[in-house]
Order: sequence, then C-alpha cells, then structure tokens
Amino acid sequence: MTDRPLRWGVLGTANIARKAVIPAIHASTGNELVAVASRDPERSERFAADVGAARSHGSYVSLLADDQVEALYLPLPNALHAEWTVRALEAGKHVLCEKPLAASPAECRRMYAAADTAGLQLMEAFMYRHHPRTQRLVELVHAGVLGDVRWLHACFSFTVGDATNIRLNAALAGGALMDVGCYGVDVARAIVGEEPSMAQAHAITTPSGVDETLVGSLLFPGGVVATIACSLAAVRTESVEVIGTGGRLRVTRAFLPGHDACEALLEREDGEIERLDFEGVDQYRLMIEAFERSVRSGELPSLGQDGAMNLRAIDGLYASVHAGGSLVPLSAVDTGSSSA
Ligand SMILES: NC(=O)c1ccc[n+]([C@@H]2O[C@H](COP(=O)([O-])OP(=O)(O)OC[C@H]3O[C@@H](n4cnc5c(N)ncnc54)[C@H](OP(=O)(O)O)[C@@H]3O)[C@@H](O)[C@H]2O)c1
Repeated sequence: MTDRPLRWGVLGTANIARKAVIPAIHASTGNELVAVASRDPERSERFAADVGAARSHGSYVSLLADDQVEALYLPLPNALHAEWTVRALEAGKHVLCEKPLAASPAECRRMYAAADTAGLQLMEAFMYRHHPRTQRLVELVHAGVLGDVRWLHACFSFTVGDATNIRLNAALAGGALMDVGCYGVDVARAIVGEEPSMAQAHAITTPSGVDETLVGSLLFPGGVVATIACSLAAVRTESVEVIGTGGRLRVTRAFLPGHDACEALLEREDGEIERLDFEGVDQYRLMIEAFERSVRSGELPSLGQDGAMNLRAIDGLYASVHAGGSLVPLSAVDTGSSSA
C-alpha cells in the first residue's frame, strides 16, 4: 500500500474523457492526471492545457513509454480497445478501458490474458455499476423482494446527429448495441445473476452499416427473459424495469443520472408503491476511486471474464439479426465480428 496518488495517462482526446472522466480523476482522492496523448501532437498540447495535464504526448506509443504514468484510461473507438489495451498492459500500465471492453469475446480474452501475465489491473469503464442505486437494485432483486424474476426490460437510446460520429462507423465497431445496448445486456446479466443461453434480435441498419435501432431478447437458463432495446436515432431514454412474481422495480435515468439525487420505484403485489431515494453522486468519480483501490489492494486482475461474457451476449444478438431474427444459441457464437 502507498499514500502516493495513482498517476494517470489518457489515450486520445475523447469527449467522454474531457466531459466526465478527467474531471472525475481531478475530483477524486488518491488519483492524479499526469499525461495525455493524441495521434496529433498539436491536439495533444491543446487538450493537455484544457484538461490540466502537465505532459502531452504526440503519439500513443510515446505515452506508453512514459514512466511517470502508472494507469491508463482508454476511451478510443471500440475497434481499437483490444490492441491498445494489450499494448498498454505489455508496457506495464494498469488499464481502465471504455465499454464495450472490445469488439468480440475473443479480443476480451486476449486482454484478460495480457492483464494476467503482467499482473496488472484491467477494468471495463461501466461507470453506472458504481452508482449506489445500481448496486441496491441488484441487491434487492437478489434478496427476493420481487419474488421470482420473470422478465426485465432495459432501454437506452439517444440521437446521434453527426454522420462522422464513431458510433456510426462500422469499421470502428460502432452501432446502437455496441454503444448503448451494451448497458442493457450488462444490467440484465447482473440482475439475473446468470449468463444467457439464447438470443434473438431485429435491427434497423444505417447506410453506413451499423445497427441504428435494435430490439432483442436474451433467454437465461433459469427461465428469465430480458428484452434489450437501443437506438442511436430516438429520444433519450434510459430505463430498467424488472418484473417478478411478487412485485416490480422501475428505474429511469438508469445509466446516466448525472450528479443529481435519483430514485427507484418498488411496486408490490398489493399495488403499494415505495419510492427509494438516493443521494446525488459522481459515478465516474466512484469508478476511478474503485479502480485505484483495486490497484492498491494488489488483488489483480479482479474481473475474470466479465467483459467477454457481455460481448458473447452482444455477439449472439448480432448473430440473430444476421440470421433474420432466428433464435441463436450463445454457445455457437463465441467468436467473430460484433457489428451488424
Ligand atoms: N462510459 C461512458 O459514459 C461513455 C460515454 C461516451 C463514450 N464512451 C465510450 O468511450 C469511447 C470513446 O467515445 P467518445 O464518444 O468519447 O469518442 P470520441 O469523442 O469520438 O473520441 C475518440 C478518440 O479516439 C481517438 N481516435 C483514435 N483513432 C481514431 C479513429 N480512427 N477515429 C476517431 N477517433 C480516433 C481520437 O483522439 P486523437 O485523434 O486525439 O488521438 C478521438 O478523440 C467509446 O468506446 C465509447 O463507447 C463511454
């Protein structure tokens, strides 16, 4: 254990780094931003000045060689997650990689193997998992407050206006399911507490070849069905609803509640509605602090194959789209491309 802050570097000049994760590094205890990198040296210098990094690197390779940096935050386009995560781990850096962890389960497994070999931390930046409301929701369902869970519905949509956005780029592993549907898949797996065995989905595809809107189902071995709806061309909607034999839990602003107070609604069999209130938090800051604690605790790497299992379910949903909406066993789709 050490009292020194964990020294961070950031690969690329992503919006999410500027808006949420770098401010969270600055606000958190035990963490310090020391360097940023861009493919373009001038952009890197401007970004470093804007976000308060002492050092700027004109290439990703240069940042990986910076011995002042202990941990990397990696918010690159999805298709680049695996390559740069493995390179960063091989360069001796812990990695917090953006969601979805990679573009396929096979890539995720390579990343976990590299973390294991290096004895370094690798975590997927699913910030919503660190919100106390998410953790309480999962706890309540597992404690049986809804009786036996029968189904759940998770929805995440917003509108992408710019045709050059990485989310609309098939070669960068864009698409609605990769970008926002991955949250629904993740929360479904956490709530059900099992891995799905079958998938079925339909999608509307953009001219650029990614799924713009996708609606699908995951079937779990214990009999629960999860429906996942996601879109890059609809009004912002983030909701999770879990229905069991004895009640229903509903959450809105489920993945991005901001820093405001938020709630969950628990409706019991007799119709009584209990409102569960949660204080406002910065879930990005909680994620950074959780990462720092796991690095310092030496319990490495901590996540097993979780990211690979999320990509396995995503691959299954895409495989069903390609098969015209047929029911697809997930055991059959554990490799290959993850774009529609
Ligand atoms: N957890 C969350 O809340 C959250 C929210 C939004 C996005 N994300 C995830 O974060 C990642 C980045 O998303 P974003 O919207 O922030 O991306 P973005 O603003 O488009 O930034 C991506 C960065 O990647 C670098 N890059 C490297 N190769 C590139 C290429 N071929 N095309 C475009 N950019 C390239 C660029 O930096 P340089 O050119 O300067 O090197 C660029 O600034 C994605 O994986 C996304 O799923 C997570």
